[in-house]
Amino acid sequence: MSEAQDRAFDELAPHYLLDVPRAVAVTSVHPDARLDPAAEYGRQAPLIVEIGSGQGHAIVSAAASRPNDDFLAVEVFRAGLARTMLDADKAGVRNLRLIEANAPEVLSTYLPEGSATEIWIFFSDPWHKKRHTKRRLIRPGFGDAAARALADGGLLRLATDWEDYALQMREVLDAEPLFERAFAGEWSDRFDGRVMTAFERKGIAKGREIRDLVYRRKPRV
Ligand SMILES: C[S@@+](CC[C@H](N)C(=O)[O-])C[C@H]1O[C@@H](n2cnc3c(N)ncnc32)[C@H](O)[C@@H]1O
Repeated sequence: MSEAQDRAFDELAPHYLLDVPRAVAVTSVHPDARLDPAAEYGRQAPLIVEIGSGQGHAIVSAAASRPNDDFLAVEVFRAGLARTMLDADKAGVRNLRLIEANAPEVLSTYLPEGSATEIWIFFSDPWHKKRHTKRRLIRPGFGDAAARALADGGLLRLATDWEDYALQMREVLDAEPLFERAFAGEWSDRFDGRVMTAFERKGIAKGREIRDLVYRRKPRV
């Protein structure tokens, strides 16, 4: 990491970065650890969670423009977390926290059940080589973890520039009993709360179509 990124960790982590007990790996979360959103954010407000927030462009912009909502960025890439903290600090954003952790663990244990209003996953790593596609985040079983973390009626928003991953996301989520489509037609309209990131720009430059999807968590019975 650069000097500025090291500074971000030293100076800004105490405010932005959640200090979580780990299990086996540095990006794991101890299964008994739980976020207390009201204590952490100092209020009760809708909680929007972005998985794989990268450099933080989308979530910092959203947090700055939506001061009445709380935001959580989940990322394993330290330089990206540093950039996110620097930009958040520059923008004076206070309704944002970051967690350096493996997303499935955050969804399946760390977030209290039903605590998230929305989960965003934009330009998830496509693992496009045939032998690597099993590493994709949105694969059978992912829906259980996402449904656990989401409130009834909560939204799972996705975007990708990889056609076969878009098809896989749609197939996996269409088959999830706890989710229903929140869009009509083949794909969702572009989510207007999503700012253009480097990954989207690169996809467009390479001639790839950007596809959005949005699914609603069905009410618990
Ligand atoms: C292709 S980048 C997209 C970043 C950002 N969403 C954007 O649109 O610019 C995917 C990000 O997901 C993160 N990521 C991948 N697997 C993850 C996991 N299991 N837990 C948390 N973050 C993960 C990567 O570190 C990477 O920064």
